[in-house]
Amino acid sequence: MLGASRSSRLKTAVTRAPGTRSVVARFVAGEAEDDGVRVARDLGRTGLRVSLDHLGEFTSDPAVVREATQASVSMLRRLAAEGLAPIAEVSVKLTALGLDLDRSMVLDNAWEVVSAARQAGTTVTCDMEDSTRTDATLDVVRELRTEEPSVGAVLQAMLRRTESDVRDLAYAGSRVRLCKGAYAELSSVAFASKAEVDASYARCLGILMRGDGYPMVATHDPRLVDLGERLVKEHGRAADTYEFQMLYGIRPEEQRALAGRGHTVRVYVPYGKDWYGYLMRRLAERPANVAFFVRALATR
Ligand code: FDA
Repeated sequence: MLGASRSSRLKTAVTRAPGTRSVVARFVAGEAEDDGVRVARDLGRTGLRVSLDHLGEFTSDPAVVREATQASVSMLRRLAAEGLAPIAEVSVKLTALGLDLDRSMVLDNAWEVVSAARQAGTTVTCDMEDSTRTDATLDVVRELRTEEPSVGAVLQAMLRRTESDVRDLAYAGSRVRLCKGAYAELSSVAFASKAEVDASYARCLGILMRGDGYPMVATHDPRLVDLGERLVKEHGRAADTYEFQMLYGIRPEEQRALAGRGHTVRVYVPYGKDWYGYLMRRLAERPANVAFFVRALATR
């Protein structure tokens, strides 16, 4: 499935298949900015926070990069206008903003988004993509933080390097989203088994919770969510010094339950037309999703 996420032939076939829409709707707010705003407002009413992600990645066309930058800026203005900035931030993929094209281009575009967030009164988190881009992504985050320390970083527990990255980033004011990692990686750079990835996640989470930064515990894994809750208690962390994060459409009842227990919970809400790569990664995470997808295609 992860290989399929980069196949343009399969992308065309899947995008055109009539049954795809219902599966996409489970994980994606919709194709328009309005859809993202509507879902943010609805989740906000239930006590949840959101991070809105305008879908798109691995962009090589400067015109598309410009559109993606404008889309995030436009969403941030909209969040401010609708009074949603206190509960909503945006997430960006730096390859959508020109990471693969030119360092000064991605920095200018990322800075445009971060400035819009600052004006709106909210924050930006830079998603992490595959391991060939980890250094470049962290380099951009470091640069943005010199002017805007609230910019969030994402680290992936599956990578062997992450424990060291977590130590570097566990400083005061540093917002770090810890996830398992959603990309196909070589065993030279990443742990291969679920047990190793989970153990790495637990070690990294311990470092973040003991540190002075702002950990963002991004997982749906019940054992790791439990561990997060235990560490919060053990380190006496106040509710405004960390948060739990989950993806739109995955374990929604647990999202509300965690918020009900007094934790800040943020839901990552993707919207936009370029949903193919995101959908393939969600299918790859769970065999049952693939069966659901195949059934949806077959019943149309
Ligand atoms: P795991 O995959 O072990 O799943 C644990 C349980 O959660 C499953 O048993 C199932 O119940 C449920 N579950 C998980 N995925 C599901 C799915 N797709 N459908 C249905 N149920 C599912 N990755 C990355 O590389 N870069 C990034 O920037 C981000 N950003 C990000 C933000 C947020 C808020 C989250 C929650 C996740 C990410 N990720 C990410 C994705 C992350 O790396 C990882 O691929 C998924 O979260 C799945 O891993 P879990 O930690 O949930 O564990």
